[in-house]
Amino acid sequence: MTSTINIAIIGASGYTGGELLRLLIHHPFIDNIQAISTTNANRRISDIHRDLLGETNIVFTEHIHLDNVDCIFLCLPHGSSAIWLQNNSIPHHIRIIDLSSDFRNTSFPIEHSSDRYFIYGLPELNKSLYTPNTDIANPGCFASCIQLSLLPLRNSDISKDILDIHCTAITGSTGAGSLKSDTTHFSWRDNNTQVYKPFQHQHEIEIHNHLFTNILSPAFHFIPMRGSFTRGILACSYFTIQPHIQKDDLIHLYNSFYKDMPFIVHSYDSPDCKRAINTNKFFYHIDVIDNKAIITATLDNLLKGASGQAIQNMNILYSFPETSGLQLKSSVY
Ligand SMILES: NC(=O)c1ccc[n+]([C@@H]2O[C@H](COP(=O)([O-])OP(=O)(O)OC[C@H]3O[C@@H](n4cnc5c(N)ncnc54)[C@H](OP(=O)(O)O)[C@@H]3O)[C@@H](O)[C@H]2O)c1
Repeated sequence: MTSTINIAIIGASGYTGGELLRLLIHHPFIDNIQAISTTNANRRISDIHRDLLGETNIVFTEHIHLDNVDCIFLCLPHGSSAIWLQNNSIPHHIRIIDLSSDFRNTSFPIEHSSDRYFIYGLPELNKSLYTPNTDIANPGCFASCIQLSLLPLRNSDISKDILDIHCTAITGSTGAGSLKSDTTHFSWRDNNTQVYKPFQHQHEIEIHNHLFTNILSPAFHFIPMRGSFTRGILACSYFTIQPHIQKDDLIHLYNSFYKDMPFIVHSYDSPDCKRAINTNKFFYHIDVIDNKAIITATLDNLLKGASGQAIQNMNILYSFPETSGLQLKSSVY
């Protein structure tokens, strides 16, 4: 195991960059942090991420110093990560963890981009494939929540008869990033809810590519919604099962599959978002009513749906304990 590493965050003034900074300044195996920002160079990171006032004196810089970095987190908009990698020649020994969708949408878990190999970084699906030479395409937030809701079904006999999976999921406003828009404006978002991109959300491709197999190949019907809260995703997936399959069969399947996965928690009641907020945990609840299985799940879009999962991936890549820097409890009230 490497003792400590140095990291750089590109796009460090945004929401996912801010969450990485908040967690990595206290991470036991991180030494030096470079916070790269094109718009805030020379300002203290606490001038932008005000929750970090009193925590650190780190200042944003415009350019990365490659001689002092082991791992780079790309927290850029879709399309910008690939451009950044084209414009910056990164030595091979430096690992990349990309939070955008630029290297996610392949049907094979590893995407080859020029001279780099990106692996689809849902650890509960692919961590056995990580090597010291692979880079990580960190999954999307809805895609993480929905895939973790269904992952144990992927190679199960139960799945052969599942023809359709329906999912309705709602996300908070931070899922759209920190740039202001009509649908993140307080006056619109507060006390409001809306369906958007029904059956056309970009994460459907990701779910098709990485979750579905010859055994589990249903028609997938996804209704995304945006809600009047800042953080969190709640996803409810349901499908018809054969009459002989009982609720306990599904609970046994899920609990066995997830037994060694530190952030996956079986909930005995229907989970609410607040228990997941500010944690890297994914909570799932299973019910069966009239031959319909219902999986209700929640995670924090900025943590298990983004920056927390990126740190989990870094921990695995560098053989740090998987939960390092991520042992977080929600506050609820
Ligand atoms: N928000 C979530 O819940 C979430 C979840 C999963 C994945 N993601 C993905 O993670 C990536 C970062 O998301 P985010 O929520 O952190 O976004 P964000 O708050 O909008 O931050 C993106 C940062 O990228 C930098 N940037 C560079 N070129 C840019 C450009 N052309 N337009 C706008 N910003 C530019 C800016 O940082 P500087 O000014 O510092 O350079 C900006 O602060 C995105 O690809 C997003 O889809 C987000």
